Amino acid sequence: MIIAANLKTNLTRKETNKYLAEVESFVSSKNITQEVLVFPAMSSLDTHDTSIIVGAQNAYATKDGAFTGEIGSVHLEEFAIKTILIGHSERRHILGETQEELAIKFNYYKDLGFKIVYCVGEPLEKRKAGKSEMMEYISSQYKGIDTKYKNLIIAYEPVWAIGTGLTPTLEDIQEIHTDLKEKSTAPILYGGSVKVTNAKDVLALKNIDGILVGSAALYGEHFCSMIEYAQELEGK
Ligand code: 13P
Repeated sequence: MIIAANLKTNLTRKETNKYLAEVESFVSSKNITQEVLVFPAMSSLDTHDTSIIVGAQNAYATKDGAFTGEIGSVHLEEFAIKTILIGHSERRHILGETQEELAIKFNYYKDLGFKIVYCVGEPLEKRKAGKSEMMEYISSQYKGIDTKYKNLIIAYEPVWAIGTGLTPTLEDIQEIHTDLKEKSTAPILYGGSVKVTNAKDVLALKNIDGILVGSAALYGEHFCSMIEYAQELEGK
């Protein structure tokens, strides 16, 4: 399974290095065979020669150039980073990235062979509008995205579940993941208020290939427990 931590705008470079060392030591001491991904804040990126895959939370669709405040692929190459998160709801809804821009970014990093964790998920009003409107909204987030890309991982993260402590029921997660599996055979992660207390139940569901964890992953110990759950459920 794939266990991913999105550290968002948290942990300095020093703190991130300490965090990664803690997770790496856990992973090697427990002989973990799951795929562990960590997305640090931009200024905390560095070269890491470990089994943990370090990815970028964002980058612009360019090698370099005049895009003030952005970084390009040349900056990721410096740290041998070949993994990127695209389409996170905070970038869609707070930073205003459009589907068109996301598709351009997706294609740029796809052409470079990056592993792409591509996020989709509905805001509360779409969920309340009923299943078909909700699925229509989620489908629109696949526009311009190559769902057959071999290095694609989908993350289903309902916007209303992110950082709120609220989650869909296990049945709902299961049902949506099953529907999303029809759009793409890529692995699908669930994200949104995953904690040590619910991670095991979520990971045990059918059609779930892993989790993308935000706030709870900031505690190295908690993130490691979730990695261990995934290991225990191997071959579920
Ligand atoms: P929380 O786990 O804090 O709800 O965040 C989820 C998320 O946005 C991961 O990308």
